[in-house]
Amino acid sequence: MRKKVIAGNWKMNNDLNQSVELIAGIKNKISSLKNNVEVIVCPPFTSLETTAALIKNTGIGLGAQNMHFEESGAFTGEISAKMLLSVGCNYVILGHSERRAIFGEPDELINLKLKKALSSGLNPIFCIGETLAERENGSTFDIVKKQVTNGLVGISSDDLKKVIIAYEPVWAIGTGKTASPAQAQEVHVYIRRLIKELYSADSAENIIIQYGGSVKPGNAAELLNQPDIDGALVGGACLEAESFAGIFTAI
Ligand code: PGA
Repeated sequence: MRKKVIAGNWKMNNDLNQSVELIAGIKNKISSLKNNVEVIVCPPFTSLETTAALIKNTGIGLGAQNMHFEESGAFTGEISAKMLLSVGCNYVILGHSERRAIFGEPDELINLKLKKALSSGLNPIFCIGETLAERENGSTFDIVKKQVTNGLVGISSDDLKKVIIAYEPVWAIGTGKTASPAQAQEVHVYIRRLIKELYSADSAENIIIQYGGSVKPGNAAELLNQPDIDGALVGGACLEAESFAGIFTAI
């Protein structure tokens, strides 16, 4: 039985004081968590170290929102996997649609980042998803196939065990438009079938596939009740402890 993994992607929100406040709120709510549910917070880089100290021994996981694929060097403004590990991260979001669209990250770059995260000991949350135009012209499955296949090039089935896939239809991110449970489930089944083709039935059965895109307390239960939706990557609704907790307690 796969566990449910709820991750909060804070994006470029919360300075240090606001981060401390939000974590305190989340910690207040975490005691009601069932043991087959895992919660991860992904604050901005500047709040990672402080957050790591605040969530110690709570069972909450810590993720960054991006990293560079090189070990170190002349890459002004970038952060390495080793740096993330040194402040207590165990997860990193890679290939988020905002990185792809605003910062021009192609599949090949995301693949390099995934490989570096895995070889360094970080668990990647690997984001994929189609835009509205792609959904409307019927290429959702082709896009998802391309992103999954190119993103996972050279990644072993052993390393795949550490990867969480987040299916986030771009048209549902921050728009208030959620994919219906049936729409999301359909793509999750497709992704799982793809993993079976690329790896094995066992890999497909065990991989965690999150849904992301306007998940909130009011729609979390019906989405997460779908058999192939193993959790959520939450943006807007994770910025208040009340609504974030409303998602992980809705399961
Ligand atoms: P949203 O963002 O919940 O605000 O739609 C999700 C995400 O970008 O991961």
